[in-house]
Amino acid sequence: MKRIGVLTSGGDNPGLNPCIRAVVRSALHLGLEVMGIRRGYAGLLDGEIDEMDTRSVGGIIGRGGTILGTARCPEFYEPKGRREALRSLNRFGIDGLVVIGGNGSLTGALELWRMGFPVIGIPGTIDNDVNGTDISIGVDTALNTILDAIDKIKDTASSHNRAFLIETMGRNSGYLALASGIAGGAELVLCPEVEVSFEEICQTIEEAYVLGKSHCIIIVAEGWKPGTQVLAQRLLERQDTLGFSVRVTQLGHVQRGGSPSAFDRLLATQMGAAAPRELLKGNAGHMIGLIRNEIALTPLEEAVAFDKQLNPQMVELAEMMRK
Ligand code: F6P
Repeated sequence: MKRIGVLTSGGDNPGLNPCIRAVVRSALHLGLEVMGIRRGYAGLLDGEIDEMDTRSVGGIIGRGGTILGTARCPEFYEPKGRREALRSLNRFGIDGLVVIGGNGSLTGALELWRMGFPVIGIPGTIDNDVNGTDISIGVDTALNTILDAIDKIKDTASSHNRAFLIETMGRNSGYLALASGIAGGAELVLCPEVEVSFEEICQTIEEAYVLGKSHCIIIVAEGWKPGTQVLAQRLLERQDTLGFSVRVTQLGHVQRGGSPSAFDRLLATQMGAAAPRELLKGNAGHMIGLIRNEIALTPLEEAVAFDKQLNPQMVELAEMMRK
């Protein structure tokens, strides 16, 4: 193997730049050439590929976003698109590929591997729903952003004696909601994975009021059904009995930006540095993860087999801490 490619794909996260930097610098250290592929699989299909050197990744360790750009690329999920991708990789003389992204992007990596191309994956998504790693790149920074928002909202919620629904990201996963709910001292967390009835939600708000709390913070995961706005509307109709009046804050894409935390910079650097080394060792077809604080490899097939489940102990913890 002489020349590898690196791409970031799917939803971005704070931590991609330190990861790209680590892939490039460790590959150069191992005597490999590195090609940066722009806009994920879309740029791979379009041949948006340039050589990178150590200076191309200078000054980016503290920057959010991704210098390579990213995209969601439906064409790549068709066999024709993947054949084009292989053609492009061959045209640029790339003989190994590092894919940084979430479940969809890693499934794409697995498909390339099944077609015989040496690929290695790195989990990068704020959702923390990838198997084979305790934590993905970007999660810690996103959590800190959410906590900053919760703390600020608590200030105003307490001043006005209000209940707040705070919506976090997580299309199918309640991890961000659960972890930020525990760390932010929320009264209730609503995740797609855990059933809570409308009556229980009302009861929680009423209890908080009766207990003499100055606010009631409910964290709602984006993927929770029937959704934050529907819940807000139904609570509005019950306003008279709840005690607190209700307001809603959807945090949205603010969670995906910002300077990576110390934890994310270290995690991204460790995972990124491992990728070229593992490709050279013949470990293509795997994803690099962090398991019990050690860098560990999981076959891509297992990593994307299903979405990672919430830890039941964390669900219990949230319940125990909320009174
Ligand atoms: O997968 C990461 C994520 O941030 C999800 O939590 C969210 O549902 C989705 O991406 C939003 O995607 P987009 O930025 O394409 O709207």
